[in-house]
Amino acid sequence: MGGLSGWGEGMGGTQAYHIITFGCQMNEFDSELMAGLLEGMGYRPTESLDDADLVMINTCCVRESAENKIWGLLGTLKRYKRKKPGLIIGISGCMPQQEGMAAEIRRRFPFVDLVLGTHNRHELPRLVDEVRKGRSPVEAVWQEAQDIPEGLPVRRVSGLRAWVPVIYGCDNFCTYCIVPYVRGRERSRNPQAILEEVRRLVAAGYREITLLGQNVNSYGRDLAEGTDFADLLSLLDGVDGLWRIRFTTSHPKDFSEKLIAAVASLPKVCEHIHLPAQAGSNRVLHRMNRRYTREEYLELVEKIRAAMPGVALSTDLMVGFPGETRKDFEDTLDLVRRVQFDQAFTFVYNPRRGTPAADWPDQVPVAEKTARIQELIRVQQEIGLARNRAEEGRVLDVLVEGPSATRPDLLAGRTRTNKTVVLPGDLTLVGRLVRVRIEEGHLTHLTGTLAPE
Ligand code: SAM
Ligand code: SF4
Ligand code: F3S
Repeated sequence: MGGLSGWGEGMGGTQAYHIITFGCQMNEFDSELMAGLLEGMGYRPTESLDDADLVMINTCCVRESAENKIWGLLGTLKRYKRKKPGLIIGISGCMPQQEGMAAEIRRRFPFVDLVLGTHNRHELPRLVDEVRKGRSPVEAVWQEAQDIPEGLPVRRVSGLRAWVPVIYGCDNFCTYCIVPYVRGRERSRNPQAILEEVRRLVAAGYREITLLGQNVNSYGRDLAEGTDFADLLSLLDGVDGLWRIRFTTSHPKDFSEKLIAAVASLPKVCEHIHLPAQAGSNRVLHRMNRRYTREEYLELVEKIRAAMPGVALSTDLMVGFPGETRKDFEDTLDLVRRVQFDQAFTFVYNPRRGTPAADWPDQVPVAEKTARIQELIRVQQEIGLARNRAEEGRVLDVLVEGPSATRPDLLAGRTRTNKTVVLPGDLTLVGRLVRVRIEEGHLTHLTGTLAPE
């Protein structure tokens, strides 16, 4: 969860907004877009809920834990509304896209003024206007996406790094996942619109972009132009003044040889690939509808490493998928040991209403799922730490982002491989690419000092 904050106050309007974001980078981007729309209406950002006249909760429903946090937060907001009846409360994002959920929100939390679906973000100003005119509650939740609205204002949190969605939705229908139901079918943005946006970002001082999509590798399949994701990377690599290009997420089944060659050869495209494996057992992968085998995954990793020896690999892993046996789980541990991921996001399978696997009878007991995730985390932590220790003594390019979140007296930046580096230095280094000698590798980050020029 994150709050959109940290921008200068007093940017014009007297009314203040606060956006609370759950979920993935796509949602973080959507929050930046809603912030841009609200500022276009004269609202100013505030970090404090007490100060806010409008609060948006941008929701996620990929796991029940996220939903539970949101229900809890709505309970808290009810008290704020009682104290300040004029407070506008809105719900947006993936949760209200689920069947019957918008009605459930209205029933359980009648004080919510507006409900906005993932395909309706651009309608936020109209809904806010209606609420201000006394019409509440109001709702805009389309089941199907329409044409992609371009050119909407975006209020970005960082001045250095920007999210750029390139493909919306997902067509993969992994049997555990709710995303295709709440984000709709794959829709690629026009490559020229993306290029122009990136040029504008660079002109405004941004130096790093992260291209976003649930599966960026299928970019372009729905376009008449014949531009695929590798072509898009080549196009953006030519933008003068841009330093770094990242992208997430890559589906292993669609990571082509052409894309490996593009990532390896394009100088701005960074050597980090997020490649969710989910599981290491072919039986589980098949039941998940992932459409690759562990052998194909391992072969892909080999090809990527052969083309880019210094590449960092991260992944998503799930334990306790229906029918997962101890042996299946050991296959996941084995895959993790073989690949040696730099980082892994680990999840306990959680049934989601409306997805096929939620109705399967062979659900894994909670105690077993808990034991497996703990074991998986232990194994991966050892590997991640060893990978970070292996960086000790190297000199790496670091883009300095600002003061470290945990040690504000130090600076933090990122390597091309997406590792956080904490180093001493003054604020004049923020926004600069510096050479850093890595001194220590830790579980979550590296520490280092500026290397002599
Ligand atoms: N599109 C990406 C992909 O294919 O890997 C990521 C989608 S999802 C937003 C992020 C991660 O959440 C997934 O990779 C998966 O590991 C996890 N996830 C999705 N549905 C889940 C569920 N029902 N229970 C637990 N974890 C889940
Ligand atoms: Fe969900 Fe699978 Fe699509 Fe990723 S690829 S968003 S896990 S359905
Ligand atoms: Fe969550 Fe929606 Fe992203 S369900 S993970 S916010 S696409």
